[in-house]
Parts: sequence; structure tokens; C-alpha cells
Amino acid sequence: MSRTDLSRLRALVLGSGGGGGVPQWNCACRVCRLAWDGDPRVKPRTQSSLAVSADGERWLLLNASIDLRQQILATPAMQPKGRGRQSPIAAVLLTNTDVDHAAGLLALRERQPFTIWGTRATLDTIGANRIFDVVGPDIVARRAVRLGEPFEPLPGLAVELFPVPGKVPLWLEEGDVETDAIGEGTVGVAVEAGGRRLVYAPGCARVTDALHERIASAHALLFDGTLFTDDEMIASGLGEKTGRRMGHSPVSGPGGTLDALARHADVRRILIHINNSNPILIEGSPEETTIKAAGWEVAYDGMEVTP
Ligand code: MLT
Ligand code: MN
Ligand code: ZN
Repeated sequence: MSRTDLSRLRALVLGSGGGGGVPQWNCACRVCRLAWDGDPRVKPRTQSSLAVSADGERWLLLNASIDLRQQILATPAMQPKGRGRQSPIAAVLLTNTDVDHAAGLLALRERQPFTIWGTRATLDTIGANRIFDVVGPDIVARRAVRLGEPFEPLPGLAVELFPVPGKVPLWLEEGDVETDAIGEGTVGVAVEAGGRRLVYAPGCARVTDALHERIASAHALLFDGTLFTDDEMIASGLGEKTGRRMGHSPVSGPGGTLDALARHADVRRILIHINNSNPILIEGSPEETTIKAAGWEVAYDGMEVTP
């Protein structure tokens, strides 16, 4: 048998929440309140990350969530097998340098060899922050990849990065912020193994033609589900920013994700990176019913996707 026959693309949702998770430490909004109270309609969620593998043994993390330690404790596939120091986590790819996506690198600092992949811009941001040197560059290689250039971070797993509209991370914002810049700062990920393809884009400010092309050739999509309505944070008194100002396309409304991606009905479509203010997190809510009727699923921690 060829390696292609042996390869099977598997994805595990380690975390499905947006920044802060569900419930968020300081939040008693409608969704968080239900989660704090243990209401079965709201599943607790850690901050977003997806693990992908071609052999079920060695895994590439798409982002290192700030909740990574908790995610490893909850996921047997991420835990060491056998003896001595070793981990099935062989590589980490960063889609941007948001705290919820990159801070988990600090949880991987016990002299374990693995590879960090990202665009040059992303690795430069990490490189300029000396705290990330605790993940020793002498033992943890940092490898820059160009947009649109395929690479194989694990045997049998083909990956390509493509730009999606986004902004600098909150912690690097200064003056006027371009909220839907196209470049190396925010990327989507196309993953392929054994002839099956998935696209991961946990942060995307706007749907572009390039994104449509990527989705059209994929079997599964895990996409930015941060807010249901663009002004949700403002309307619920939780913040002053719209979703678009935060670099996230809203799920509903004109030009929102349901609208913009309606044509991809034959692709398995899953919302991920869901903020705790988003009512789709309440099972049975009108908003959850709406997205299901439109053919979408809501990611949850521990969800397995085999495209
Ligand atoms: C985001 O996705 O917009 C960020 O996680 C915001 C943040 O850093 O809190
Ligand atoms: Mn985020
Ligand atoms: Zn909340």
C-alpha cells in the first residue's frame, strides 16, 4: 500500500471557544451565566485550537491555545505514550499571534523537540517577544513558510497557508487599525491527507474570492464563528467594538458568514472560535436553530472531524 492509502485525515477540536472561552473568568453574560450554573444547554469551551493528523499518532496543532494544558489533560491522543519524555504533539502552526492562539507555546517549554510553523511575519512577532524564548530555539525549530507554498509538517500531511483579511493582534494595536488587511498577519490553513481536505480559518474579517476557491475544493470547513451579530458585544453591554472591528466577520446579517458562504452547501461547515456572547452556544436557541437550518454545525471541545 502506498502512504496515501495509509493516510487518513483526522481533526480533533481541542478548543472551540473564542478569546476568554466559555464561561469567561470575569463574565456573567447570558451564555456565561448558564455555563457557570451548569445548565446542560451550554457546553463549557476552551479557547480555539484544532489538532490534525494523517496517522492518528503524530499531531500538528493549528494554534497553541492559551488553554493548551487543559486541552492535553482532556484529550488522550495528545498525551505521552510509552516511557520517558515524548509527546504526540510534533508541530504547532500559528495562524496569527493573538494571545488565545499563541500563548499556549509557553505551556510547551520543557525541552521537548517540535517545530513551530508560521509566516515570516508571525515568527518575527514571536521572535521579538523574548518570553517565547523559554521554548528554546536550540531545540524547537521555527520554520517560516510562504503563502501558497505547500509544505509537509508531518509525513503524509500536506499544508498550505493562504491570507485571509485580519488585523494585528489586540496587544500590538496602535493608532488607526486596518481591520481587514490581507498579508502574512492572519492566515487560513488548507490541510490534506489521503485525498481529503479541510480548511481552518478561526479568524477572518471578510470572505474573499480566494477563500471561496479554497472552500470549494475542501470537504470540511472550520470557520470563524466569533459573534452572531456584528454589534452583539455593544448590544449586550459587554464591550464597545463590533465584530468587524475585532477582525471577525459576523455569522448573521448582510454580508455575514451564513450569507457569504451559502453557496458551499456540499462542504461540511462548522463554526469555531465562538465568543461567549454568541447565542448559538445555547442549544435550542433561535440562533442555533438558524445556523443549523442553514446547514452549519457548532464546534464543541472534543469534536472529531474526519473530512
Ligand atoms: C480575537 O480573536 O479577536 C482575540 O482573541 C481578541 C483578544 O486577543 O482578546
Ligand atoms: Mn481570538
Ligand atoms: Zn460571557
